Amino acid sequence: MGATISLTFPEPDIACLVLDAPDRSANVLSQPVLGELDEHLGQLESREDLAGLLIRSAKPSIFIAGADLREFVASLDIPDEEAEAICRRGQTLFRRLSQTRFVTVAAIHGVCVGGGAELACWCDRRVMSDHPRTQIGFPEVKLGLFPGWGGTVRAPRLAGLGNAVELITSGRSISAREAVAMGLADQFVPPEQLESAAIAVVRHEQTTQAYQRDRESRRGPISISDTELGFLGLTASAMIRMETKGHYPAPEAALEAMLEGAGSDEEAAAQREARGMAKLFGSPVNAALLNVFFLTDRNKKDRGVEGDVAPQEINTVGVVGAGIMGTGIAAANVKRGIAVWLKDASSEALQRGLQATLEEASYDRDMKGPSAGKLAKHAPLLNAVAHDADWSVCDLVIEAIVENAEVKKEVLPQIEARLGESGFLASNTSTIPITSLAESLRRPERFCGIHFFNPVRRMQLVEVIRGERTSDETVSTAVAYAKRLGKMPIVLKDGPGFLVNRLLLPYMNEALELLLDGVSISEVERAAKAFGMPMGPITLYDVVGLDTALFAGRVLWEAFPDRIAVSPLLSRLVKAGRLGQKTGAGFFRYAGKKNKPEPDPEFDTMVQDLLREPRELTREQITHRLFLPMLLEATRVLEEELVRDVRDVDLGLIFGIGFPAFRGGLLFWADQIGASTILKQLEEIEYLGARAEPTPLLQEMARTGKKFYSGGRVS
Ligand code: NAI
Repeated sequence: MGATISLTFPEPDIACLVLDAPDRSANVLSQPVLGELDEHLGQLESREDLAGLLIRSAKPSIFIAGADLREFVASLDIPDEEAEAICRRGQTLFRRLSQTRFVTVAAIHGVCVGGGAELACWCDRRVMSDHPRTQIGFPEVKLGLFPGWGGTVRAPRLAGLGNAVELITSGRSISAREAVAMGLADQFVPPEQLESAAIAVVRHEQTTQAYQRDRESRRGPISISDTELGFLGLTASAMIRMETKGHYPAPEAALEAMLEGAGSDEEAAAQREARGMAKLFGSPVNAALLNVFFLTDRNKKDRGVEGDVAPQEINTVGVVGAGIMGTGIAAANVKRGIAVWLKDASSEALQRGLQATLEEASYDRDMKGPSAGKLAKHAPLLNAVAHDADWSVCDLVIEAIVENAEVKKEVLPQIEARLGESGFLASNTSTIPITSLAESLRRPERFCGIHFFNPVRRMQLVEVIRGERTSDETVSTAVAYAKRLGKMPIVLKDGPGFLVNRLLLPYMNEALELLLDGVSISEVERAAKAFGMPMGPITLYDVVGLDTALFAGRVLWEAFPDRIAVSPLLSRLVKAGRLGQKTGAGFFRYAGKKNKPEPDPEFDTMVQDLLREPRELTREQITHRLFLPMLLEATRVLEEELVRDVRDVDLGLIFGIGFPAFRGGLLFWADQIGASTILKQLEEIEYLGARAEPTPLLQEMARTGKKFYSGGRVS
């Protein structure tokens, strides 16, 4: 592969290192690229004729996207000392940018994150383009790490300790304007003036020599009083704990490194940083979060089909059913500039739906409501459909009417009859088999499931369901379309509950079984939350609605009666009208003003006679009962080849139900435990019968030592 860094001279006494990784859209700081930088610096450092050195990128929207994460993954199990040495080498290399005879300036256009931001911070000055794509930040905490090439040392010395703490512990990226306001960058200019502005900085520094004074002061400790330091430490640490709930160690570790590093000189702070970073590198959370990064990265590149089948462009979409989902789907389209034709059987529902769509699509976070500008832009994209719809104007029509197979089987052919020959048809059904809906269609090959999750604006996951006769073109079009809406589509074969609901149900079901075994609601909730779930399963029942849960579960109870049965608890509560939050009572009661769940003695009395002989279960055993049935179901999904790749299971659960990212996904988590250990854990709960019975896949994995992730693909 050719070189990434080339040396140019925009003026005879000004050198410029230009980064342009061959055959890649992004520049990343791999070891070979760091080697190139080392060589170039070696040549330039000895020159006495230079006034300045610029560093810039030739990529249209990326300065440097950070370190090479594939190198990280390949070396996760290196000893701490080696990880520390890697950090020290990076720091030493970058520090040379603050020790040259001449002034160094990073000219930043595009994304400048992670190691790229660190490199920029070691330069004397930073000039940024004011383009919206130009962003600077330290996202390392999102991978369970913190900056290890001097970010925690330099950022506080440039932007102030408080700003650096906020930036590095949150991992958020900021615009050029914000970076200049906090002192992380020195100025922003239009992209076309970037190089000339950077040259002007060199000339200015040549005269004033201010950079030399700054170098001197940055080498020392940060001036901040002990009281300020103590206060910052306490507040930041409280905020971090609230955010991470103790599951993500990196932000706290970054804070400690910065607080300690503030009181020492630059070199000691850098040593402290390298030690701290080495401890995080290769930790289980780091490995898990790297996995999540690669899951999402793979999803971005996945076209949903094996061959090279080009998707059709979708510019006009019909949405039938203007309820909760139809409205959310319509808004997602309008937001992305896709024209929508919305229809509902009820004219009131249609009116409400149109208004709700427009309000949601035009919501402005700063204004906390729809903005006039966005309303004006979006309104022309939204159209109401009268009774006799002519769907031939639409490239795709999505059906989102009531969840009733009979009604859907009547409505879908009506839509199809008025759809143009090149149009696609999809259903948003959450439970009805796509193949059975296709039976009433003339062109089943142009039909598939596009299952959005509620609320559509927040949930990134979309299940694209391939019916038995769905064509590759339809799947690839649905995938490309979902991506255009900013979603993460995963492609599945048709099956009861598709993927996410199928895996969620054993877990939800087991939560109720635990209650029947005498485990308290709070113990079940605590076990799930300690595992990292965003909310406990019992609360989730109340939020979703017990009637909805009962209804959605039915398809799975019918499909897998050997291992999942309708819980008597659930049907009793539904019969009593206790449907959850929406009726003021479910498993909890919601009496207070804030709709806060409270334990309800009435619930205890109601279910008393259903309870079995109590079982004494430890927290660990409760956790196993909640998550192992989910894992077993996932192995069945793999056996059935319902998903195209094991990684889709983990992606689906993380983005569909909030499975904890710090565990890397359900199957990633299982790989860390190992199939043999899981079999032993299942033995301990074999009293559950079919619900805890090891599947052939798991048994084979235990025998062969194979892991879910060893091949990526199922087979
Ligand atoms: P909803 O009850 O809020 O809305 C359904 C709308 O369809 C109503 O406005 C109704 O008037 C209209 N409708 C009924 N029959 C019609 C017909 N023949 N022609 C045109 N409009 C008709 O229901 P929701 O929650 O939006 O669900 C819609 C679909 O999305 C269902 O298939 C459901 O299973 C699925 N879904 C629902 C999720 C949820 O959390 N609510 C999540 C994912 C999928």
